[in-house]
Amino acid sequence: MKKTKIYFLLVLFGLMLNACKYDFIVPEELPPIDTTVPVSFSTQIVPIFTSGCVSCHKTGGQAPDLSAANAYSSIKTMNLVNSTTPETSIIYAFPGSSSHSWKGYTASEAQLVLTWIKQGALNN
Ligand code: HEC
Repeated sequence: MKKTKIYFLLVLFGLMLNACKYDFIVPEELPPIDTTVPVSFSTQIVPIFTSGCVSCHKTGGQAPDLSAANAYSSIKTMNLVNSTTPETSIIYAFPGSSSHSWKGYTASEAQLVLTWIKQGALNN
């Protein structure tokens, strides 16, 4: 009798755990962007830095300095872009990695940054 009780409790517990299972990361369906349209560094990439990164990556703060005035030169001098294999560019891959315990890009921001790199990482 005791054994059945324990077994019953285990099953109940298992069901409870299962009920808590929840997919937090809702896969975001991104419409493909037209990669022939140039992504502008100043009007599309800098605002991403300003809203999500500059709180830490400001002038005199955590490197790289991603403030509007210095973002481009920081990216260049710190070698954060890899034009041969854009996906491995630090400015693209590092923020969302587990080594960066801070806010990364949203899926659409990441898509813009990668496209900008693939287009030659221009200061446009
Ligand atoms: C809450 C503070 C914070 C925010 C917000 C933040 N970062 Fe960081 N970032 C850090 C710290 C601290 C480091 C140093 C490595 C570490 O401890 O993760 C770092 C490291 C980096 C590096 C690596 C530089 C190197 O030396 O190779 C890059 C690139 C970077 N961040 C980009 C970003 C971008 C892009 C954003 C915005 C999408 C962002 N970070 C938002 C705190 C932040």
